[in-house]
Amino acid sequence: MTTPPKEKEPSKKLTPFQTPKGMRDILPEESPYWEKARESTADIADFYGFGYIEPPVLENIDLFVRGVGMGTDIVEKEMYTLKTKGGDNLALRPEFTASMIRSFLENGMSRMPQPVKLWYFGPVFRHENPQSGRFRQFYQNGFEIIGGESDPIYDAQVIVAGVRFLEAMRIKAPLIHINSIGCRSCRAIYRKKLLDFYRKEMAAGKKKGKVVCRDCERRMDTNVLRLLDCKDEACVELRGRAPSILDSLCSPCRTHFKGVLELLDEIGLPYMLNPYLVRGLDYYNRTVFEFYTEGENIALGGGGRYDYLAELVGGKSTPAVGVAMGIDRIIGILKDKDIDFGPRKKDKVFVVHVGETAKKKAFALMEEFRKANIRALEALGKDSLQAQMKVADKEEVQIALILGQKEIYEGVVIVRDMKTGTQENVPIGKIVEEVRKRLHKN
Ligand code: HAM
Repeated sequence: MTTPPKEKEPSKKLTPFQTPKGMRDILPEESPYWEKARESTADIADFYGFGYIEPPVLENIDLFVRGVGMGTDIVEKEMYTLKTKGGDNLALRPEFTASMIRSFLENGMSRMPQPVKLWYFGPVFRHENPQSGRFRQFYQNGFEIIGGESDPIYDAQVIVAGVRFLEAMRIKAPLIHINSIGCRSCRAIYRKKLLDFYRKEMAAGKKKGKVVCRDCERRMDTNVLRLLDCKDEACVELRGRAPSILDSLCSPCRTHFKGVLELLDEIGLPYMLNPYLVRGLDYYNRTVFEFYTEGENIALGGGGRYDYLAELVGGKSTPAVGVAMGIDRIIGILKDKDIDFGPRKKDKVFVVHVGETAKKKAFALMEEFRKANIRALEALGKDSLQAQMKVADKEEVQIALILGQKEIYEGVVIVRDMKTGTQENVPIGKIVEEVRKRLHKN
């Protein structure tokens, strides 16, 4: 996985300013990956009927406190918050889902045909400890289905959208981890069972010292379900003996979960039941899931059903389900595996100039190609012919157009086929047509 750049040594600093810790520039060489990610998201959204939405980067803090949950790491430790001069308490969004529900309620989307399907792509901010695949500013795309019924079909649809995105990004064999965390009633019963189990274990193990890690000791008071997804060795051993949430689901939740799994079976999507998957945000109920790929132990995306979120933020009960993918992590894997998407368009010509008059003409010619929607490259800032041809070679263009003093005088352009090396003079007035013809033939 791509690690965030280390803080630079003082002696190597080229500028007193560096990107803040955990944040980075996305440089031009990475842009084919980002374009591919954006295009694939938009294609999938278009096919499955999601409409694009762009909420503000800042939201009222309370939206996340009430939506994501007071006892979660995101709200407790990771939000970037600020107080405006007017006294508003805002937070840089740590995720999109709460904003989606806020927008749904604020913009009266419940009066539109239900459910409403929304997609997004943009940066989110979490003040986490930067490490491999973990940044403080990172990008998510997502697909949310809000309103209508709490129907398993919608759970399956967002899971499929996530998988199709990973496939489009050429992630091999995406693996779905899936679980159900039930509803308010059956989860409350399970929570009590789990707490009883841990309390008994703690009491029995007291003499032997540590039974669970410090964090889990705290979780027993704050967020019992999160006991299940602790990575500490002792806690992992213990949870293996803990009661499973799947055995505690009430009948409607069991039927719902079965419905989701049957739909995934119907289209042959492999999944792994993971009864320890509970997710780090409080708003979920019933289905929760995460995406992984072979050889990587970090989630590439995740989501679930959040039927209570609208109520938590003051709206009326609205079933909803969604998924968000971690774009930086996905691109990190592609880069590590040397999978690239190449330059955006292959058809390219290169305009070469020799001399000041030709430079002006070449500058104007670029605009003609732009009008004709033909991708033309140049190195107008370089005067040496050799230097320009070097750039043309590097860019692997098919055709070079050479304009010198003599050509300007004769009203022609030299058209050089970069593969065969053959050259031909073409009248300057016909050059756009000629280039179009040649690019078409290739
Ligand atoms: P999440 O699991 O917190 O879910 O984030 C989704 C994905 O964002 C993760 O699976 C991971 O790939 C990526 N991610 C999370 N933290 C970082 C980080 N620090 N650096 C890089 N990538 C990261 C949500 O945010 C929910 N809103 C998903 C959802 C949508 N649920 C329903 N609808």
